Amino acid sequence: MDIRKEYSLKAHNTFGIDAQADWFIPYKSIEELQLLARDEYFQECRHLLLGEGSNMLFLTNFHGIVLHSQITTLETYEEDEAHLTLLVGSGVHWDDLVAYTCARGLGGLECLSLIPGQVGAAAVQNIGAYGAEISQRVVSVHTVHRRTGELRHFAPEECDYAYRHSFFKTAEGADYIVTHVLLRLDKQPELQLDYADLKARVAARSAAPSPEDVRQEVIAIRRSKLPDPAELGNAGSFFMNPIVPPSRLTELQETYPDIPHYPAPEGQIKLSAGWLIDRCGLKGFVLGHAGVYPRQALVLTNVDGEATGQDIARLAQHVQQQVQERFGIELQPEVRYIS
Ligand code: EPU
Repeated sequence: MDIRKEYSLKAHNTFGIDAQADWFIPYKSIEELQLLARDEYFQECRHLLLGEGSNMLFLTNFHGIVLHSQITTLETYEEDEAHLTLLVGSGVHWDDLVAYTCARGLGGLECLSLIPGQVGAAAVQNIGAYGAEISQRVVSVHTVHRRTGELRHFAPEECDYAYRHSFFKTAEGADYIVTHVLLRLDKQPELQLDYADLKARVAARSAAPSPEDVRQEVIAIRRSKLPDPAELGNAGSFFMNPIVPPSRLTELQETYPDIPHYPAPEGQIKLSAGWLIDRCGLKGFVLGHAGVYPRQALVLTNVDGEATGQDIARLAQHVQQQVQERFGIELQPEVRYIS
């Protein structure tokens, strides 16, 4: 194992924050994790699972062990007339997997094109875009328990999936280190196009669109709205879209008749955090080295590459305060704060 001491995480978080980890341990197999589970020192240290750090904000140096998956296998697990099930290593770059499935005409992941991060983190975070979520495709999540080294496969209902949430995000769930994810794809895809803008663009592109056509349009939309972390440090949407009861929407509509809103589970309403921030006049707002992205207000950026985690957190707090004062809504970060 290539264990590193006092290791900079700058290249391992998409904000490009120069935080240091006491230890950085990339793992390549289940056996390596089981070896670590037997190590007394490892047991005593705090640990953090880090994929590509596309959803993390390091507020300080991390005192403990950062574990990073390098399990990059991709195998066909099962196949019948309708479906192909793939066993994918948690260290596979998410968008490489989406590209692979779309190129083979397999349906299911196309709306999730160009989302940064690794497969394991995608299953933990329940990534979603354009009406699709990875949870709709998960057959099981394979894990190693970090204390006992035991293997456990989680069925979707055990993963407790919800909007940007899973069991693995809880304190208890964090002890299960994801090694592989089993995903089911459709061989005769029925494209899910809930999002009006995407639907229109795909229809203009092809009369009989394929997953690859959807992928190309999703890529074009994302590139037009979201900054490339390689050029401008960011973590995609910084906040979750708030979920409110219908009565709250009715009140807001009295003052803001054009407020965007979408149905959410159990009769609730999902509002658009980007719109709320935009309406506070914060697009392009800069505080220190951190800024609100001018083309999508839900994205906070490291404007000059010099921001610390505290700079980004200060801006986030300002945004939360403004939205709270104007709309009485408390925005919750989607990005995880690490200290
Ligand atoms: N809007 C504004 N101003 C803005 C941003 C958005 O008025 O600055 C309005 C838009 O016009 C639209 C609505 O807000 O009416 C929703 O915006 P958009 O379609 O851009 O999507 P979003 O709700 O801001 C969510 C996900 C994204 C995902 C897109 C597409 C969350 C927190 N974010 O963003 O996910 O790509 O939908 O499905 O759910 C991510 O999680 O990192 C991410 C990028």
